[in-house]
Amino acid sequence: RSWVAVRAEAQAINPEIRKTEEKVVDSVMVAELSKPLTAYCRCWRSGTFPLCDGSHVKHNKATGDNVGPLLLKKQKE
Ligand code: FES
Repeated sequence: RSWVAVRAEAQAINPEIRKTEEKVVDSVMVAELSKPLTAYCRCWRSGTFPLCDGSHVKHNKATGDNVGPLLLKKQKE
């Protein structure tokens, strides 16, 4: 790996938003979803982008960052 790739891995991507939280996760209740839960990546590290694959955990550990996915939850009728 190049030094640019290593440096990019070690940098936090969230400079100031809700830094007191261990992981920033937001949820939206949506009535018309086929699955009960869908997680969308907000860390730009997912191998299945735009869906979250849990790669934010490694990123947060390596950088001290606190990013997490956007969760879309199917609203119960
Ligand atoms: Fe990016 Fe989970 S992999 S938020």
